[in-house]
Parts: sequence; C-alpha cells; structure tokens
Amino acid sequence: MRYNFTFRQIAITNFNRAAVELEQVGADHADLRGFNLLDPYQTLCKLPTIVAWLQQHKLTVDRTAFLHVSKHTHWDIHIDHGSHDVALNLPISGCTNASTHFYKFREEAISTLTKSRGTGLPYLEYYDPNPELVDVYYLTKPAVLNIKMPHSVSNSTDIDRVCLSLRFRQDESFDTWIDSML
Ligand SMILES: [Fe+2]
Repeated sequence: MRYNFTFRQIAITNFNRAAVELEQVGADHADLRGFNLLDPYQTLCKLPTIVAWLQQHKLTVDRTAFLHVSKHTHWDIHIDHGSHDVALNLPISGCTNASTHFYKFREEAISTLTKSRGTGLPYLEYYDPNPELVDVYYLTKPAVLNIKMPHSVSNSTDIDRVCLSLRFRQDESFDTWIDSML
C-alpha cells in the first residue's frame, strides 16, 4: 500500500457551480446502478468547472466511475482493483448520510479478485475475520480517498447515494498534488 491516509476532504474552486454540472451528469446516467465506468472525455466535457480545477493542478484523469449505491444497501469491505492508489470522489446526490468505513490493512487478510454484481467489473474482495474500523467519512464535500485501504460503503438512508469518482494518471504533478495534501 503506497499511502497510509484514509481520506482528505478538499476544496475545489467554484464547487457550487461544479455541483450543478455534476447534477446533470447524474441525470444523464439515472438508469445506472452500482459501479460503472464512464468515458472520461465525454464526462469531463460536461464538467468545465472541474476541468478548470484539474488544469490548475495539472492533473490528468484516466478513469471516471459513476457510483450509485441504492438506498438500504451495503457494499462489503474491498480494495479497489487496478493501478490507482487514490480516488477523488465528487458528491452528486444523497451523499450526506451514507458512510464510507475504512479498516486497518492487514497483510494476512485474504484479498480475492472477484467481479461486481451487475457490471462485472473486477475488484478485490477483502476478508478479515476481525476487521478493525479506523475511520468513517461522509461525502458531504469532495474527498480524496485511499482506495487501497480496505473500505466499505453503507447507505441505510431512504435515498440513493450517487457520486462521481475520478482516478488520475499518477505522474509528477499527481505526486506534487498529493504531497501538498498529506
Ligand atoms: Fe471502493
């Protein structure tokens, strides 16, 4: 695991304006459930305020995921599969009261590569008989999270939780940005 942090809430310039653009992305994909990859170029075309902020930090997006956690749904403890260590999650709707839980990473726990129901996308199921909760966050504002830290998502509210998750090319600009945050 490259980083030890769990999450950091961050400020995005003009996020009120970005929230309106994100709401449109949510409306455009209202039929999606679970974890879905979107076309990064097409998605960012709808998010000029986010793009301006990305340019400010010289960040290159190479993956965009649309996450829809239905009401009264729980996503089990897992580690995100793939080369990215962190994600920037942007709230779209219903994010205030649904929580993400982080657990202590243990080398001896069992990670099994599996496919998510519905979308069939690979992720690492993480099995620890005694998971130790280390942190909890609510996506009330944009947040950077360590997706290699075991985490689960719990939505026991009466509304669906929808957010957009960006993954970046982990180049020099990315390192500078992360270092400024940690
Ligand atoms: Fe995840």
